[in-house]
Amino acid sequence: MTTSADVTAGLRALGITTGDTVFFHSSLKSMGRVTGGPEAVIGGFLEAVGPTGTVVVPTFTLTERLGPFGSWYDHQTTPSTVGLITETLRRRPDAQRSFHPVHSVAAVGRLARIVTAQQRNAFGRRSPWCDAGFAQGSPFDLLTRWNAWYVLLGVEFQVQTIMHYLETILVDAALRRASVAEREALRSQVRRWGAPGIWPAPERMPLGAALAADGTYRHATIGPADVYGSRFQAVLGRALEIVLGAPATWLDEAFRAWMGAPPDPTAVLAGYVTPGGGAPLAAPAQAISCAGLARPVSAA
Ligand SMILES: CC(C)(COP(=O)(O)OP(=O)(O)OC[C@H]1O[C@@H](n2cnc3c(N)ncnc32)[C@H](O)[C@@H]1OP(=O)(O)O)[C@@H](O)C(=O)NCCC(=O)NCCS
Repeated sequence: MTTSADVTAGLRALGITTGDTVFFHSSLKSMGRVTGGPEAVIGGFLEAVGPTGTVVVPTFTLTERLGPFGSWYDHQTTPSTVGLITETLRRRPDAQRSFHPVHSVAAVGRLARIVTAQQRNAFGRRSPWCDAGFAQGSPFDLLTRWNAWYVLLGVEFQVQTIMHYLETILVDAALRRASVAEREALRSQVRRWGAPGIWPAPERMPLGAALAADGTYRHATIGPADVYGSRFQAVLGRALEIVLGAPATWLDEAFRAWMGAPPDPTAVLAGYVTPGGGAPLAAPAQAISCAGLARPVSAA
């Protein structure tokens, strides 16, 4: 039997401590029989970060997405499709949920309101999942700025959604680097929901294995489950180095042609963690948030 205390101990072994912010992907079954079920796992995380810490989980909507973009999403009732632990956290009375038709998160703890509040109105960082998904003020943007913990609990490297954040800032950095005259043509080639286009999609299994092999991800166990964890900036920084250091291995030809010379990986990440960095680019004059709100776009 695995207990809540085992969860806390496993997280402590990774280096997580009081006051930390932790985002995690999870599988309940991976830990064998857990005494107290999903609530006990969440309790173990809350114990590890203490009363000043914050626990965040994905509550993504990855199935039954029919109709126009976002029409399937009801902020109050649409369940998380990414595991019983995440859905259990979402349903807690003290949980906050961010608004997004695909990439919402739920959070409990000190920064829960702040980490979830801005995604509803976010905009302007192009991606196939509408431009709020990983934009300035979105949960992944904030978790990266805060250098929160990123944890994989009993799951495969395939689930590393942090790589969507990497992909989004890589595209945004290339657009930012282009002249204003070139930018609109480049932007129009980026993949959109339901429409083809270029997108970087490094394979997550070998990328995760590389990050574990070089120690970027620390390893611990909780019962029979393998747990990997690292800081957001460590994962993103090292993954950008790996991908941009060997673009032909990780990025397809169409994306490489679109991107041109690979940017400096350190400069890419730095552009999104400095205060105010990664603000929406100019043009078009308005952008639509995932909640359907039109927003003026400030000049970059
Ligand atoms: C898909 C995934 C959620 C499946 O994991 P899982 O452990 O089988 O499922 P859940 O975490 O939802 O837990 C439910 C399971 O726990 C079991 N369970 C219930 N109570 C339990 C307990 N006390 N102890 C252990 N297992 C228990 C349930 O019976 C159920 O198993 P079943 O489907 O065989 O009946 C997981 O592999 C995964 O990929 N998680 C990450 C998803 C993600 O974040 N994706 C990001 C974008 S790709």
